[in-house]
Amino acid sequence: MVLEKTVYPDPLLRNVSTPVDVIDEEIRILAENMLDTMYDEGGVGLAAPQIGINKRVIVIDTSRDRNQPECYVNPEITLRSGKSLADEGCLSVPGITAEVERAEHVEVIAQNLDGEELEISADGLAARAFQHEIDHLDGILFIDKLDTAERFRVRDQIANLEEVYKSAEGV
Ligand code: NI
Repeated sequence: MVLEKTVYPDPLLRNVSTPVDVIDEEIRILAENMLDTMYDEGGVGLAAPQIGINKRVIVIDTSRDRNQPECYVNPEITLRSGKSLADEGCLSVPGITAEVERAEHVEVIAQNLDGEELEISADGLAARAFQHEIDHLDGILFIDKLDTAERFRVRDQIANLEEVYKSAEGV
């Protein structure tokens, strides 16, 4: 099921999400819905807070054919190395792309939907996706990580999202 997205500056995106204790049917359905929502929007990743759920679950698919869904519960980065600068966007920050520096390589521990412990090595786009999605679980957005020039370049677009949110909330 495609779910409604949480959009910046919704305060829910700023919460630190809770670890998942038990990987049960509810978590598997959550992951399934997150994949549906990610594919519907054409994203390479999605974190649970982006559909309004503050739990530590992410989904990723960096394959060209969009047919290699990956679901991770309680993911944690254990090692970062190298540097990479590339454009990034986010389904919760619609219409904005900007250059973000990330580690080129990461190692991640997580559980899969069967509760098995995984150790993953990722480079390039996959490493970037892990860093971006795990940041969501800690309330961090890619627009927090821009250098001064990039922040300046997209400032009007960010202000516009804030205006849209305010008027929708009737604040
Ligand atoms: Ni995002």
